[in-house]
Amino acid sequence: MTNILLVTSSPRGTASLSSRFASETAERLKARSGATLITRDLAANPPPHITRAYIDGRVAAAEARTSDQVEAVGLAQALVDEVKAADIIVLGSGMINFGPPSQLKAWFDHITWPGVTFGYDEAGPRGLLSGKKVYLVTAAGGVFSQGEWAAFDFQTGYLRHLLGFIGLSDVEIVRVEGTVFGPEAAQAAIAATEAYLHAVLEKAA
Ligand SMILES: Cc1cc2nc3c(=O)[nH]c(=O)nc-3n(C[C@H](O)[C@H](O)[C@H](O)COP(=O)(O)O)c2cc1C
Repeated sequence: MTNILLVTSSPRGTASLSSRFASETAERLKARSGATLITRDLAANPPPHITRAYIDGRVAAAEARTSDQVEAVGLAQALVDEVKAADIIVLGSGMINFGPPSQLKAWFDHITWPGVTFGYDEAGPRGLLSGKKVYLVTAAGGVFSQGEWAAFDFQTGYLRHLLGFIGLSDVEIVRVEGTVFGPEAAQAAIAATEAYLHAVLEKAA
């Protein structure tokens, strides 16, 4: 049985384009393969910023952890378990101040865990996750895939790097961008993403 994990993070609720296209991607993949779908809405249930309890708790022996550390590490473990159980991960991220929403950053801060999702050997850092397909859906008001603003996209490249760092290097990127230049431009941008996503999912069939 294929497991799909859908992670959305936009704080814009039903107006969110990244959540819309990420959900559509997950639903269409699910319909195709009869997969199970687990949903984690990081805007509705944001992981906390990581704390000293989490940092110290990660390296403490399980039986020596304080109750704060047990709670903090337990949440991280639950998030990692969800990722590990997934064959396909669909990630939605809508640009906030040139980067991903802080809710998504907090999620990565929990799952990027030395000895659990990445390690080091003589060759340097090595991701410990493998064999998963990731669909990364990024939305932005401006255009960042090309042109003079490409240098200021601290969202898509950053997320792709974080994913690769923990071993998730099979990443298909779906962008919806250029939506702030009026209703017609927004409609054209959404139509372009719909067409692109359709082609991506056809290819995946
Ligand atoms: C608080 C806030 C900050 C934003 N910052 C940027 C930004 O830095 N650059 C940009 O191009 N668009 C920015 N936008 C526009 C969003 O990236 C755009 O609405 C995108 O569709 C958001 O993703 P979503 O639709 O999944 O919520 C911002 C929007 C909000 C609400």
